[in-house]
Amino acid sequence: MIISIISASHRIDSQSKKVSDSLNNNLLNLDPNLETFFLDLAISSLPFWSPDKKNGKGIWGKTWNSISEKLQNSDGFILVVPEYGGMATPVAKNLFLLCGNGEFSHKPGLIVSVSSGNGGAYPIAELRSSSYKNTHIMWIPENIIIRNVEEFNPGNHGKNIPEWLDNRIDYVLKLFIAYADNMKPLRKIINRKDFGNGM
Ligand SMILES: Cc1cc2nc3c(=O)[nH]c(=O)nc-3n(C[C@H](O)[C@H](O)[C@H](O)COP(=O)(O)O)c2cc1C
Repeated sequence: MIISIISASHRIDSQSKKVSDSLNNNLLNLDPNLETFFLDLAISSLPFWSPDKKNGKGIWGKTWNSISEKLQNSDGFILVVPEYGGMATPVAKNLFLLCGNGEFSHKPGLIVSVSSGNGGAYPIAELRSSSYKNTHIMWIPENIIIRNVEEFNPGNHGKNIPEWLDNRIDYVLKLFIAYADNMKPLRKIINRKDFGNGM
């Protein structure tokens, strides 16, 4: 199985990247047979969606096609998203416009939100209400919020990170892997030709 981990910060070497790397380790500890694909949206510098995307020129050629194919081949997605201005980041929202080729379709997604303070709830509420219509991503009912993220350091967290967090993360990741495995048969009955967009 292939799991994509997407870091949706606008900043290079972000806290979201740090958390993504840690989740990648957790996933491989739980199931060494997993393959992971890491997409750092701060580095990939994908432009905002525009009609140019259809031309397939420049970044919308080889670069985008290789990202799209990696996502297409994935069985599940972990989106690590910081809270910016009480919202999901623009690069996170943009990705849902760019992925119009069924990349996420009827596959499980896990939202992991990140805040340097006590925030982190808003991106989850926003993504759960608005990202799935055309992409058909299926956010699993669990999510993870990492508050005081600068103190996040598995095995040696700062004092503002609760001691139960690592167990909670492993519990949610185990569930997420089970969703990814068990949702595979759904893909046989998907009809994107007639019903590509949600209602
Ligand atoms: C533009 C901007 C807006 C932010 N707005 C919020 C916010 O609304 N709530 C919050 O809890 N943190 C906010 N923060 C702080 C982020 O939680 C913190 O910088 C976090 O480390 C960002 O994750 P990143 O390093 O992955 O980009 C904001 C940070 C930035 C750069």
